[in-house]
Amino acid sequence: MAQAWIQKSAGNLNNLRIREIPLPEPVEGEVRVKVSHCGLNLADVFAVLGLYSATPKGSFIPGLEYSGVVEEVGPGKKTGFKKGDSVMGLTRFGGYATHINADARYLRKIPSKWSLAQAASFPVQALTAYYGLEDQGAISRMDSTGTVFIHSGAGGVGLHALQVCDHFGALPIVSVGSNAKMEFLEKEMGLSRDQIIVRTRRGFALELDHKLKRFNRSGFDVVFDAIGAPYFKPLYKRLNPAGRLIYFGSANFMPQGNKPNFARLAWQYLARDKIDPLEMISSNKAVMGFNLIWLYSQVDRLKRLYEDMMEIKWKPPLVDRVFPFHQAPQALEYFKQGSNKGKVLLQVEEN
Ligand SMILES: NC(=O)c1ccc[n+]([C@@H]2O[C@H](COP(=O)([O-])OP(=O)(O)OC[C@H]3O[C@@H](n4cnc5c(N)ncnc54)[C@H](OP(=O)(O)O)[C@@H]3O)[C@@H](O)[C@H]2O)c1
Repeated sequence: MAQAWIQKSAGNLNNLRIREIPLPEPVEGEVRVKVSHCGLNLADVFAVLGLYSATPKGSFIPGLEYSGVVEEVGPGKKTGFKKGDSVMGLTRFGGYATHINADARYLRKIPSKWSLAQAASFPVQALTAYYGLEDQGAISRMDSTGTVFIHSGAGGVGLHALQVCDHFGALPIVSVGSNAKMEFLEKEMGLSRDQIIVRTRRGFALELDHKLKRFNRSGFDVVFDAIGAPYFKPLYKRLNPAGRLIYFGSANFMPQGNKPNFARLAWQYLARDKIDPLEMISSNKAVMGFNLIWLYSQVDRLKRLYEDMMEIKWKPPLVDRVFPFHQAPQALEYFKQGSNKGKVLLQVEEN
């Protein structure tokens, strides 16, 4: 048997329950991973609250990524893994478990010198940053003045997006939610204060102009936005011609408490920013969106994407906080507050 966190009915963080689940022998193409760490993603919070459209119907186990050690290999064709290998994996839900029978196509060996905690902080963040900025944002095709705006630069995805910019020689300008995160980015990522905006609703547009002027840039070539209104329009306005605004999350929809306030969400939804396609033609700008979960069914494309992104010399991921596995609701509650600098993880305790 394994243990897993199960959300019987989405809608409230307090509905999560830890349960024993059967663990059959791995079949052909599978390996059994004894999970060490589960990576938390904002999508987990939205799924548990019933606000994520890709969530399976009925009860489900949250979790999109993990690390661990191969315990058993299924019979038949070669998987490329053997007992004792340290691995990191992607899963379309089911990640908050002590053991996972994983389809080997979604597992990768851990880069040498990385810990299991660092490994569980990597796959979703790095793929999101790379897919968004390179596949959609075409960052490698920018010229030497390429300028990229990134929201939540100190978060899991943000820290990887900064490394993608560094790799392709683009100038990143980021927003963060607090002074503490600004100091963290200066220290850990070598950013200058001129590259960081501590977001406030009122002064945001002015701050953007100030930063662009400081670096003598006319606007942004790529905007990497997982927050949305009220920052969307000021950013869209400052896209250069041929610029791309990549929209891939809506942290602004995060409810305050343990469950959604649907009246407030409905108001927010109706009041969200909208773009006129005719205006996009005349200003020569693009708005694009993506959900990485779509790539899960595109195995060959995912493999190519992973290989391409491993050309980057990634730093070992930065971990903000590790909660014991049995404290998943507390970990989600903490993560939901948005004060994390780096990744939040669950660690499976040894029995
Ligand atoms: N489309 C996709 O396929 C895909 C895949 C992975 C992640 N994402 C999105 O990418 C974003 C970053 O994901 P992550 O897992 O790496 O998370 P993260 O950046 O580690 O944490 C989320 C960050 O969102 C910011 N935030 C802004 N408003 C917030 C609010 N009202 N409540 C809580 N946080 C708020 C906070 O940073 P600051 O306050 O510093 O800005 C917080 O640290 C998320 O929005 C996520 O949904 C999308």
